Amino acid sequence: MPGIFAKGGRLAPINRCTCQRFSDNWHLGDKMQYTDDKLVNKVILITGGAGFIGSSLAFYFQENHPAAKVVVVDIFRGVKTLSNGNLKSFGHYKNLVGFKGEVLYGDINEAALMEQLFKNYRFDYIFHQAAISDTTALEQDLMIQTNVNAFKRLLDIAVSHKAGMIYASSGAVYGNAPSPQKVGNELPQNVYGFSKLMMDNIAKEYIEKNKEMHLVGLRYFNVYGSREFFKNKTASMVVQLGHQILSGKAPRLFEGSDKILRDFIYIEDVIQANIRAMHPAKNGIFNVGTGKARSFQDIANILQKELHTNYGNEFIKNPFIGQYQFFTQADISPTVKALDYHPRFELEDGIEAYIPEIKRLFQDEVAR
Ligand SMILES: NC(=O)c1ccc[n+]([C@@H]2O[C@H](COP(=O)([O-])OP(=O)(O)OC[C@H]3O[C@@H](n4cnc5c(N)ncnc54)[C@H](O)[C@@H]3O)[C@@H](O)[C@H]2O)c1
Repeated sequence: MPGIFAKGGRLAPINRCTCQRFSDNWHLGDKMQYTDDKLVNKVILITGGAGFIGSSLAFYFQENHPAAKVVVVDIFRGVKTLSNGNLKSFGHYKNLVGFKGEVLYGDINEAALMEQLFKNYRFDYIFHQAAISDTTALEQDLMIQTNVNAFKRLLDIAVSHKAGMIYASSGAVYGNAPSPQKVGNELPQNVYGFSKLMMDNIAKEYIEKNKEMHLVGLRYFNVYGSREFFKNKTASMVVQLGHQILSGKAPRLFEGSDKILRDFIYIEDVIQANIRAMHPAKNGIFNVGTGKARSFQDIANILQKELHTNYGNEFIKNPFIGQYQFFTQADISPTVKALDYHPRFELEDGIEAYIPEIKRLFQDEVAR
């Protein structure tokens, strides 16, 4: 990826797009627009819009494209849990406080919701984020129903509304396939990764059959950043370790965490990929990462540096061996080419930008 990495391997801003945002003087905290399209009167559906990435997208549109109409659909959270003890759905109203668009409760597994979406709206874009997002969930029936079947119904709505469909796939489709992970070389190790791969297969079929259709799948790698807190134990280790440190404890890591490498991607770059996908050079399925693998130990070290602590580490056994990814690093060159996607945040940058929110959450949600 020539031109993306500055000296020392840090990601550097580049001056590709016509707008001001990749100028050399952007700052980490800067909120950016990723399309010049004002989206006037465009109707945008965000499924899973009360979740981490969906609500971040909702606020992106509100802040940058106020003339667009945004409709959020989510099942929100109830009290039901999966057999692993985690909540069945993580949507939380607090992710949407301040959102001025339309919010609907709905289960994407229900035909009545699909009917309502099909009949009562005319969508220009659908950002499909709703899913059982818990990679450790064991319920194969619910996973396939929610992630795969419902996707097909939403694709049919997109076809009839002539809406662009941008949906969330996942780096979990690769399992322990060799790094850097490339589209076409998948080896899912859990039912979550399998369900996302099945979504991608369906998407490929729709792309083939519907030549006019605008359809982009985004394989997010490990996302971290604001609005993930309500994913509880399934939130990123950035926020979880951050809160352990803020409570005066050593960060708790799996043994060998310096050798467990992942492509960690900051939410702002995930938003960038989604918005870029509204005007792709071509349809397809693309990786969304930084293109770099970093360790969980790196996260703990960066956090301790940012929080000015030196607590050492506490190591525990990894209970997920066999269904756990040990080395992910996205090949993002096709994404750069097709979407003009250029990640701005290295792990150090993303954590630095996230620290004030990690501290706020600790004060408002954890320590009270
Ligand atoms: N966060 C990551 O690191 C990551 C990585 C790869 C892929 N993804 C994918 O990105 C998408 C968004 O993930 P996220 O991190 O925001 O997770 P999230 O759990 O915060 O968001 C998913 C949302 O979908 C909602 N939902 C679940 N079942 C539903 C149903 N039956 N009907 C309607 N809504 C339902 C949940 O309430 C939740 O708000 C998901 O598809 C996820 O699989 C996330």
